[in-house]
Amino acid sequence: MSAPPSTSARPRVVTAPDGAGPGPGAAPWWTSAVVYQVYPRSFADSDGDGVGDLRGITSRLDHLADLGVDVVWLSPVYASPQDDNGYDISDYRAVDPAFGTLEDLDALTEGLHARGMKLVMDLVVNHTSDEHPWFVESRSSPSSAKRDWYWWRGPREGMPAGAPGAEPTNWRSHFSGPTWTLDEASGEYYLHLFARKQPDLNWENPQVRAAVHDMMRWWLDRGVDGFRMDVINMISKHVAEDGSLADGRDADPRTGLAGGGEQYLCGPRIHDYLAEMHAEVFAGRPEALLTVGEMPGVTVADAQRFTDPQSAEVDMVFQFEHVDLDHDGSKWRPVPLDLLALKASFGRWQAGLAERGWNSLYWNNHDQPRIVSRWGDDSPEHRAASARCLATLLHLHRGTPYVYQGEELAMANFPWRSAGELRDIESLNHLAEEAGHGADPEEVLARVAVSSRDNARTPVQWDASASAGFTTGEPWIAVNPDHGEWNAEAQRADPTSVLAHYRRLVALRHEWPVVALGDFRMLLPEHEQVYAFTRRLEGADADGRPASDELLVVANVGGTPVDLADLLPEAVGAAELVLGTAHGRDEADVLADPVLAPWEARVLRTA
Ligand code: GLC
Repeated sequence: MSAPPSTSARPRVVTAPDGAGPGPGAAPWWTSAVVYQVYPRSFADSDGDGVGDLRGITSRLDHLADLGVDVVWLSPVYASPQDDNGYDISDYRAVDPAFGTLEDLDALTEGLHARGMKLVMDLVVNHTSDEHPWFVESRSSPSSAKRDWYWWRGPREGMPAGAPGAEPTNWRSHFSGPTWTLDEASGEYYLHLFARKQPDLNWENPQVRAAVHDMMRWWLDRGVDGFRMDVINMISKHVAEDGSLADGRDADPRTGLAGGGEQYLCGPRIHDYLAEMHAEVFAGRPEALLTVGEMPGVTVADAQRFTDPQSAEVDMVFQFEHVDLDHDGSKWRPVPLDLLALKASFGRWQAGLAERGWNSLYWNNHDQPRIVSRWGDDSPEHRAASARCLATLLHLHRGTPYVYQGEELAMANFPWRSAGELRDIESLNHLAEEAGHGADPEEVLARVAVSSRDNARTPVQWDASASAGFTTGEPWIAVNPDHGEWNAEAQRADPTSVLAHYRRLVALRHEWPVVALGDFRMLLPEHEQVYAFTRRLEGADADGRPASDELLVVANVGGTPVDLADLLPEAVGAAELVLGTAHGRDEADVLADPVLAPWEARVLRTA
């Protein structure tokens, strides 16, 4: 089902005039695109070993084509010991046997291209696996030709190697504990911002950069259409003249460790490295490619420069400001979301990247808990409505939306009951660390259950069968017990389903230039329950006559009705309901009704 028929006789904007911002003719293709993220381990298993694989993905391409997405971003499928589910790569030019072969990957690429979709690979080059031949050689001896490809340092001055606190800096790993591991043979430590099996590459060394560029060109030549760059703003560390790295601020007295991010997030050479990468890898290629940099801690000002086409660095960045709003410093200390803070954050990013640069928009990915459980309401009464509401909000902002597998089905967090059900290294290390500090295991598990990345990693729910149609074997991680009701098969033909709503949102971005390119203006920034904004575009209609479109998006982010009559009178009696979530109601009826039902969202055309 598409949007209800228009009651408005006014012509729509179909092109933006030259010179008035990036019109559809001039705007890059990805401004009207939607990206879908596949986490291969959990998407679809073709051979019954319980682990999702490339042939599984290829067998489900019709689901993606039906949704209408333009690009698939594939989380890592490279050869890997799988310490961090593939974000620890031991061979950048090989596919891990768990996922298939290079030929399977070629077949997936062809299948996507045949359906008009592009394939974006994950690029994980802040670190490799400790089993990568580069690191094996680097570790073999302090005089190895590749020693300097990684970060090797002696113990803290005046301390013996291996003594508690003798690590070269006090930085805390993103996966608990220090960021340094001692190599007994040489008495030196190597740096790993993540797990000890993920040593950081030394980007100061030009040979490292050249080797990465070479590998990237190899993939583009094979037919992939771009890269999502893993923690790419961590590749430049602050290094003193004498080669030393400095301690982080505000160490935790309990562990002696500090975040240390100020020493390596958006470090001094990050723009040089990305501009060089662009020149070496992307410049001059005729293909329509996409680059997106994952950048924890990035500010709006940084992002302007990273994504300004003049800088020639990346097309867009993933920022974390909004997903950091519901915890207190550490992701393991969740606090309720403040809707005003969320609006303020989005408003700032929309304004900051309005003239220069571009936003990416996401609620979910493989590192975040499920949005319907997190900021929606996954109780039976409100689950579908809140999923539709949040999706509408996100997709109507200016930027490129990303849909994470299962989000389009309103997949929810898993009801974790024991640590034994968890698989993620981040969660398991945290549980072990807290146990070491004598914390109450029940209490720690309760917090991990809310925030664990495994919430995103349970298998995609294709149907109501025993393993949700994901595998014929034993799944590597439990299938959510709610799959009997919440699955793709049940939603596919239902025009009121969450899946159908996502399909309409994707289509809207393709069909309405104002959705892709219109200006953004936040309304009611101080309202606790209504999220409202306008999008406006001046342009031309199908006959080339000047025309303008203005959309008013209103959403009730809560479980009680809200009356808009006094709050936002312009939302009552609008010209056209472009997209709504109140199924089974007449368009005229909805347009005249000032009351938004719980979790109802409306996209109205006002001009
Ligand atoms: C990124 C990835 C995450 C991974 C980490 C280390 O944040 O999204 O899954 O664990 O980088 O590569």
